[in-house]
Amino acid sequence: MQTDKPRHIAIIMDGNGRWATAQGKTRAFGHEQGARVAAEAFRLGQERGIEQLTLYAFSFANYRRPQAEVDHLMSLCGRFAEDHRDEFVERGIRLTVIGELEDLPSAARRAIENTIAATAKGTAMTLCLAIGYGARNDLVGAIRALTARAYAGLLLPEEVDETTIRSFMTAGSLRDPDLVIRTGGERRLSDFLLFESAYAELFFSDHMWPDFNAELLDQAISAYARRDRRYGQIGEQLAHSA
Ligand code: IPE
Ligand code: IPE
Ligand code: MG
Repeated sequence: MQTDKPRHIAIIMDGNGRWATAQGKTRAFGHEQGARVAAEAFRLGQERGIEQLTLYAFSFANYRRPQAEVDHLMSLCGRFAEDHRDEFVERGIRLTVIGELEDLPSAARRAIENTIAATAKGTAMTLCLAIGYGARNDLVGAIRALTARAYAGLLLPEEVDETTIRSFMTAGSLRDPDLVIRTGGERRLSDFLLFESAYAELFFSDHMWPDFNAELLDQAISAYARRDRRYGQIGEQLAHSA
């Protein structure tokens, strides 16, 4: 089936550290610039009519980085939510998050929760920040919750299907991403939306995240438009159903 515009774009914003060290700057400098570019990304996404944009800001595995970098990234996530709160409201952008927020310092967590509450009525675009997110961890959490329900006699094995599983995942309310973009040159998913990206189109760029711009987003969107999404069927079947 010839694809149209992606409705949900998910971005692995990789390369801040290498971008900064290449110019003799600190990794922290790279993350600060990365956050400015993330703001540019949601504006561009909205201009392009994208319904959902998910940004991988901090992975569950990133908690294993040096504590100073973890602390900086956490406070950056909080600041990002706070600094753009009014802009989100003006633009009708609804902020959501996926991942483990428990380990977030309380100030950052409060800032994010306040922005989620303040933007809850936004209908123009959903911006989802993946913070402390890991796809495997999300799945483990869902299975734990499902098992607890089954153990309490509230769920039968035959009642478990894709929908039930999703309903217990923090990413459960998102559409499946149509297009996953990764900057930074690596060709891997690093535990990002593994379940949800089963049929996503992938676009890898060698540009570091702080160099992401409108041209690159448009390249990814037009590459997506040239792909044939078959979902396991053959071309003729999809041509008939189109
Ligand atoms: C992406 O940039 C931001 C996060 C993972 C939090 P990196 O910090 O991974 O930058 P590189 O990959 O070391 O260049
Ligand atoms: C993926 O980048 C996570 C984010 C962009 C938030 P990483 O830099 O953590 O990924 P790996 O370690 O290279 O796989
Ligand atoms: Mg990286």
